[in-house]
Formats: sequence, C-alpha cells, structure tokens
Amino acid sequence: MKILSWFNRNNSVSTKPLLNVDIHSHLIPGIDDGAQSIDESLRLIRGLCDLGYKKIITTPHVMLGTYNNTPEIIYNGLQKIREAIKSSGIQVEVEAAAEYYFDDHFIKQISDQKLLLFSDKYVLFELPVMFKPPQLEDVIFEITTRNLIPVLAHPERYLYMHTKGLDAYEKLKNRGVLLQLNLLSPIGYYSKPIQNVSKQLIKYGWIDLLGSDMHNEKHLHFSKRALEDKHIIELLNQPQLLNNKLI
Ligand SMILES: [Fe+2]
Repeated sequence: MKILSWFNRNNSVSTKPLLNVDIHSHLIPGIDDGAQSIDESLRLIRGLCDLGYKKIITTPHVMLGTYNNTPEIIYNGLQKIREAIKSSGIQVEVEAAAEYYFDDHFIKQISDQKLLLFSDKYVLFELPVMFKPPQLEDVIFEITTRNLIPVLAHPERYLYMHTKGLDAYEKLKNRGVLLQLNLLSPIGYYSKPIQNVSKQLIKYGWIDLLGSDMHNEKHLHFSKRALEDKHIIELLNQPQLLNNKLI
C-alpha cells in the first residue's frame, strides 16, 4: 500500500495510507437518490479525485418498484459519465456495478445470472433496515455456490445486528460474506450506535471493504473529515482491506 508521510500535531512524522479505490457510490445522474445531474456527478467525481481516489466503482440502487435499474440503464449512464469526464480532463477510472436491495428481484437476478458484479465476482447488496430477511442464509449460499462473493453494504447500519458480541456479523463472515463499512459511519454521521458498532467492527478486523456511499455534496464534505479519522486510518492500515487491491 502506498504511504504518504505527513506531520501530525506533535510535528513527528506519521503515516497516512492512501485509499485509491471506492466501491460504493451513487453517481450516475437521475437514476436513483444520488446525483441528479451530470454537473452534480462531475462535482462529486472531482471531489473524490481530490481525496485521492484513482478508481471509482459506482453502484446505483436496484430496488424493485423504487429503482427499476437494468444493466442497460446503468451502462448507458456510465457511458455519459465517462464522456463527461473525458471532456473535463478529470483523470480517474470509473466503472459501474449495482447495490442490490434484498428483494425477490435480486433473488431472481442471481438464478438468471444477470447480476452486475464488480471485479468480476463481487455482489454488493443491502438489507432491509428494520428486519433480517428469513431467506438471507439461503440466498448467501446460492451466491457463494455460484463462485461469487457477496458483499454486505454498510452492515453497521442494521440495528437488528447490533447484538452482544456482534455474533450476527461473525456468522455472516463465516458464511463467506464480506463486510463493507461506510466511510462516514465511524465519525458518527448516521448515529451514535452505528458509530460505536463501526469502531468495534474495525477493532475486530472484520471490515473487508470501505465505501463512500456518496450520494451528494454533503457526503463529500464529511468524507474529507472521515479520511482523517483515527479509526478509518486504523482500518486503512489493516491487511485484509481489499480496496486498493481492486485497482
Ligand atoms: Fe448505497
């Protein structure tokens, strides 16, 4: 991992690892609750570049009835972004996958082999906020037996998993699920309980991927602060973190 030397408050040299790859964001304009115009997309992409990102894998929501995004819609949007980046002279690689909501449509896409993946094998999915779906374990089995790797988006945000000892997370990891923390969670952006669980998941070394989950300029503003957070820096120094291996 590339290391940038910098001076801390005591004027002694410390090391701040760079985060080169983002694997979760909503930057394709007008197709979900993220960027709504190509100008907004470009502002967010430029902001991510300023933070040090070299590659952005953007992941629009796919949620039946709310965000009916197909691979064609997503790839058309990606093409627009790539053209805009080229004419703006921004130096960054942008790819697209999806953030699948755990619903019947997602389950069907798995069996129909129509999932949008990143790095050829990772499936980013999110769960309902209020309850754990009863089919979760079966669907994880279905994904892993197809030699794909399930990646749970922002596991720290599901309050029903905040059990003693965080055993719900351990069980998922034992089933082959990778855990993707949101960059803003450890700074308390979402809530105090989410912040606390984020810190614990980092401490246990259970976070496999870090995602900006960038939707808007407010997220960009707080991302700058998050990259200075000591828990995020601790995570960036952990060997299991996969982000920079996806370049
Ligand atoms: Fe997201």
